[in-house]
Amino acid sequence: MFQETVDFIKSKVTDIPKIAIILGSGLGSLSDEIENKTIISYKDIPNFPISTVPGHKGELIFGTLNNVSILAMNGRFHYYEGYDLKEVTYPIRIFKLLGVETLILTNAAGGINLNFEKGDLMIIEDQLSFFAESVLRGPNLSEFGERFIDMSNVYDKNYIEILKPIISRITGKCHTGVYAYMKGPTYETPAEIRALRVLGADAVGMSTVPEAVVARHSGLKCIGITCITNMAAGINQEILSHEDVKETALKCENYFKNVIKELVTKL
Ligand code: HPA
Repeated sequence: MFQETVDFIKSKVTDIPKIAIILGSGLGSLSDEIENKTIISYKDIPNFPISTVPGHKGELIFGTLNNVSILAMNGRFHYYEGYDLKEVTYPIRIFKLLGVETLILTNAAGGINLNFEKGDLMIIEDQLSFFAESVLRGPNLSEFGERFIDMSNVYDKNYIEILKPIISRITGKCHTGVYAYMKGPTYETPAEIRALRVLGADAVGMSTVPEAVVARHSGLKCIGITCITNMAAGINQEILSHEDVKETALKCENYFKNVIKELVTKL
């Protein structure tokens, strides 16, 4: 099944990049900055899931960003849409088989750390996913990796150091922190946010962790960047809405794009 997908993609693209970027909420317009594009719609790719969320496109874009060859996934799959975790992470397996070495994961999340503000960027240093089953449950895919994998360095420490000055210069500040994964689609309750804070979370979102786990299982290096689109439930007594999340994500788009454009030249 994987091989059929890989063969199809290779029949469309000759230059396979070493860097793949998953474009999270609000970063979709980074695709406009990619040059020399080859666009493949998910619906045309054998065995590929199809995106169902309004506003999430479904295409793989191969091309160059700042003269660096990259592959962007415009539109990701979420567990809350009804996909199982194997589907959510299917593209990551394909990236590995294509020859990608580094995965840049981007997302929107709620801020739990009280030092954060709406619109800030946070480098993901580590992750929490107590409340979800592991994407690796079931027979091990030994062609990709071992049964039991070390999770001490999910997010590559060298790349975190490369990223810090880039974000500081572009946005005037830079946070690093722990991203907690919740399955959604509800936003969290204030009690859940208080609990997550005690557990050590700085931000909370509904994506990224399954993808990072599969990336690590497959031996891909990971970088994670979060846009804090709102303070999490109960913090400012605000009612959370997808509209507000999208609006903040859009406001952050320009500097978020600049961060990624600079980052790819330094990997
Ligand atoms: N919680 C979960 N996911 C999110 C949030 C949030 O507050 N904001 C953006 N994605």
